[in-house]
Parts: sequence; C-alpha cells; structure tokens
Amino acid sequence: MNTVTVHTEPAYSVRIGPGLLSKLGELLPSVLPGCKIAVITDDVVSRLYGPAAEASLKEAGYPVSTFVFPNGEAQKTLSTFGAMLDFLSEEGFDRSDGILALGGGVTGDMAGFAAACYLRGIRFVQVPTTFLAAVDSSVGGKTGINLNRGKNLAGAFYQPQAVFCDTDVLHTLPDEIYDEGTAEAVKCAVIGDPTLFGLLGKASFSEEEVIRRCVALKASVVEQDEKEEGLRAILNFGHTLGHAIEVCSNYTLRHGRAVALGMIAVTRAAEKSGFAEKGTLDALRQVLEARKLWGSVNEDPERLLAAVGADKKKRKDRLTLVLPRRIGACEPVSMNLDEAKTLLRAGLE
Ligand SMILES: NC(=O)c1ccc[n+]([C@@H]2O[C@H](COP(=O)([O-])OP(=O)(O)OC[C@H]3O[C@@H](n4cnc5c(N)ncnc54)[C@H](O)[C@@H]3O)[C@@H](O)[C@H]2O)c1
Ligand SMILES: [Zn+2]
Repeated sequence: MNTVTVHTEPAYSVRIGPGLLSKLGELLPSVLPGCKIAVITDDVVSRLYGPAAEASLKEAGYPVSTFVFPNGEAQKTLSTFGAMLDFLSEEGFDRSDGILALGGGVTGDMAGFAAACYLRGIRFVQVPTTFLAAVDSSVGGKTGINLNRGKNLAGAFYQPQAVFCDTDVLHTLPDEIYDEGTAEAVKCAVIGDPTLFGLLGKASFSEEEVIRRCVALKASVVEQDEKEEGLRAILNFGHTLGHAIEVCSNYTLRHGRAVALGMIAVTRAAEKSGFAEKGTLDALRQVLEARKLWGSVNEDPERLLAAVGADKKKRKDRLTLVLPRRIGACEPVSMNLDEAKTLLRAGLE
C-alpha cells in the first residue's frame, strides 16, 4: 500500500492499494472514531460494493445509513443534492457524525458538498471507485454540483478527513469509463511529471504507481494554493475547452473524454503559436492513442467558443488558459476573451 499525505489545514492521507474496501472498518477509526456513518453512493456502485463496505463498517461497530441515487452526471443536480441533505437530517445525523462517499467523481463531488453544507460542515471521507476519482476528484477538496447554466457552478472547497483508494474496484469499470479516467492522469503528466507520461504511453501500467504519482502531483499543487487563487489553475489544463465540449454535447460526452479533446486542441494551439516546443502534440498523440483517447471535436467551433465565454473561471473579460511549453511543463496564461478565442480556434482547426 502507498500513502500520500496532503498537507492542507488539517492534513489528510490518501491510502492507495488493493483490498482496502473490506478493511474500511479497520481504517476508519483513525479518522472518524465512534460515530454514525452515512454511506453515499450511486445505484451501480451500491450493487457492486455497498454490501462489502457496509459489512466492514458494521463489523467495526459503526451504525450505517445508506443513501443511493441513480448513477450519472445528469444526477449531479440541486435536486439530488437536496435529497441527500434531507436524508441526513431525517436519519438524525449530527455534527459528530460522518459521510463516506463511495463512488466516482459525481458521488464524491456531491457527497463532499453535502458534507460541507450539512449543519455547516460535517466530516467526510472519500472512497473513489473510478480511475478518474482515484487520480483526481477524490483529492484536493473541490466539491460541488452542476446548475442549469453549467458544470460545477455551486460548490465549496472542503477537504476530506482521508481518502481510501482500493485499486481492486477499478477492475469492474466498463473499458470506456476506465479509459476516460486516464485522461486526468495524462493531464497530470503533461503538467509536471514526464516519468508518469512515459508510463501512460505503455500498453499497460501499474495502477497503484500511476495513482500515487497523480495524487502526489495534485497534493503538491493544492498545498500551495488550496482555493485556486493562482497556481492551482494549472490543474485546469484542457478543462476550459473540455467543459465547453461537455456542456455542448449535453453531457453525452463524459468528462475525461472531453478533457482529452480539450488538451489536444490547446496543445495544438500552443504549438502553432510557437509557445510549445515542436513535437509536444506528437508526444501527446502517442500517449492518448495508447489510452484510446485520441480524437477530434465534432462540435461547431463557434458554439464551443461561445460556451468558453460563459466559463465560470472567467473574470470580467479575462480568462486563464493553461498552455504547455513541453511535456512536463505547463504555464497559466491570462488573456482577454478575444485572444483566448483566437488561440483556441487555431487549436480546433
Ligand atoms: N472535484 C474535482 O476536483 C474533480 C476533478 C475531476 C472531475 N470531477 C468531476 O467528476 C465527475 C466525473 O467522475 P467519474 O468519471 O468518476 O463519473 P461517475 O461518478 O459518474 O462514474 C462513472 C460511471 O462509473 C460507474 N462506476 C463507478 N465506479 C465503478 C466501478 N468500480 N465499477 C463499475 N462501475 C463503476 C458509475 O456508476 C457511473 O455510471 C464529473 O462530474 C467531474 O466534474 C471533479
Ligand atoms: Zn477534470
């Protein structure tokens, strides 16, 4: 088992390895001793892993209540979130109790936000079950839900007490969803880990090693800028366009795939403009092909660029695009909206 410590205030650890799910009852007392636990999970994960997680918690003496919602990004709404909060109050949860988010990024984001809001904040732990949640969303404390006008428009920065990442559960993921999760790992590699980039270009890799490297990179960024006042923006590489692609597809394209397309376009744009070293896009292509994530955007570029203009990270008429210099080095570049659109248009050609 690997452990990465995230030095936020307070600090927490991310445990990564096989067999952790059935040991939750042994692992939890160090971070959430003697309290009631609300397991929050979606219907798919509940069927696959709910019984094992609950059995382990109950065996360790935890009273457990479980909230199950239908799986998928379309459920990441105010209405599901409201039902979650009502459930916690109806089950009599108080400030000393805790939430266990068991699932992918949708579950972790919503359950984390419920933890941040319920009674003005109760403790929670993340148990990620998708590759995306393991390498990215379970760590760093961004929680939230979508609003009608866009993704993650309501939320809170709220760190978990711990993250328990069982690598065994990744093996029931449908291939498509597994592959999509690797997009966030490729993102980490391009931002700052050329060794990781090399691993992801191979036909197969050690999941534990890839997750450990991604979590370590994310932790080092989040520790320096927990609330995204500067450096943390680097983690949005591929995401400005990626979010626009996701929204314009009505979420039929999932997050990881949309981010992969966003990384391709922004890297092409950076190379065309002379910002990125020649060969950067070719290197990215090789790795994304190995991960079955290479592709082109089908959406009308002008519609996408209009959606970029509505991005929540835009301030006044400026936004920050993360551009690669080379594999392993990216920089946030602030520009006005028109400059951003011109640059991205070149990347979409
Ligand atoms: N908070 C952050 O920092 C952050 C970072 C990246 C992405 N996100 C968010 O994460 C979300 C995407 O996460 P996701 O891709 O994990 O989506 P998800 O939670 O919807 O999971 C994808 C699908 O896989 C199923 N599933 C989950 N675990 C499984 C398993 N072990 N075996 C079989 N099926 C399983 C789920 O039921 C679901 O149908 C987006 O909403 C995105 O905005 C958040
Ligand atoms: Zn992402």
